[in-house]
Amino acid sequence: MTAINETEGLVADPPDTALLPESAQILLMATGKWVAQALYVAAKLGVADLVADGPRTPAELAAATGTHARSLHRILRAIASVGVFAEDTEGRYGQTPLSECLRDDVPGSLRQAVIFFGEDFTWRPYGRILDTVRTGAPVFNAINDVPDMFAYMAEHADSQRIFDGAMLALSGDSIGDITERYDFAGAGKVVDIGGGQGFLVSEILRANPGTTAVLFDQQSVLDGAVTGEFGDRVELVAGSFFETVPAGGDTYVLKSVLHDWTDDQCADILARVRRAIGDRPDARVLVVEAVVPRLNAWGFAKFMDVEMMVNVGGVERTEAEWRALFTRAGFVLDEIVEISPPNSILVGRPA
Ligand SMILES: C[S@@+](CC[C@H](N)C(=O)[O-])C[C@H]1O[C@@H](n2cnc3c(N)ncnc32)[C@H](O)[C@@H]1O
Repeated sequence: MTAINETEGLVADPPDTALLPESAQILLMATGKWVAQALYVAAKLGVADLVADGPRTPAELAAATGTHARSLHRILRAIASVGVFAEDTEGRYGQTPLSECLRDDVPGSLRQAVIFFGEDFTWRPYGRILDTVRTGAPVFNAINDVPDMFAYMAEHADSQRIFDGAMLALSGDSIGDITERYDFAGAGKVVDIGGGQGFLVSEILRANPGTTAVLFDQQSVLDGAVTGEFGDRVELVAGSFFETVPAGGDTYVLKSVLHDWTDDQCADILARVRRAIGDRPDARVLVVEAVVPRLNAWGFAKFMDVEMMVNVGGVERTEAEWRALFTRAGFVLDEIVEISPPNSILVGRPA
């Protein structure tokens, strides 16, 4: 009879994928949905918060989440094998450094982003990804009969809430990085175009008492604005950047906005900003986006680009593509300031 080693299996030991035979590597890649959707279940059910004070059995977790105990157990057993939660010898699941990222409201939490990537409205279009490749149009729009994902979310408050949470989670350290790496002390009036609920604007105003700001976005997003503490230092303006952008700004910021749109749409938005700046050589436009790495270098932006293609109709861009866009809209791309990956600050001045 084989003796059971008491410590065996207590620590996840996923294979070093680069050392596996090619066929095994391909199988792991092709089944990425298994991990993604199991993570989604754990994030959606809030399992990481339920085990924050200590390990719990699948039966306890199923009772707390209103789910089927054996099914939840099978999900947890699977992701524990890649280091997300750990089963102990009593059959209880406890926290690991990876599962800690799925907690809510902790610094670095990715819970809302994992939910967003796995939720039905962003997940379902991947079943028809070939349509996008055949037509060049995001299949999300066809499935939902909408002009774009933002129009969809304006009609679906739950999806909007999940999206807003994901944007904040994905911003990670970049909001702090932006105010640290770019000197906003002399930035005058900052206009954040598509600024969401105003987390970046808030950080800029907090760190720079001399600045004022305009937060520009759709009304449904501004309804959740978090800028109340700044009183009349910040003005909320609702509108569409395909129609107008607020005039009179000294520094125009577009963070994670242009990657949502085609080259023509981006040129249109940037040209509108350029016209709002008019004849003021000191004004600047700050585009906070990923710069797609060259050749075969790994980069989060390369797969985020596929997400943009399928669900949004946007594009992640190389440095050359950014330069061309800036030029087309009447700006010179002056400087690229690296911040935490995948984003950089692309600083433009009027040409
Ligand atoms: C990817 S989010 C980025 C939000 C924020 N800048 C950030 O980095 O977290 C894109 C933003 O553009 C806004 N947006 C989309 N279409 C818009 C439009 N036509 N006019 C103004 N804002 C729009 C969305 O509501 C959303 O807040």
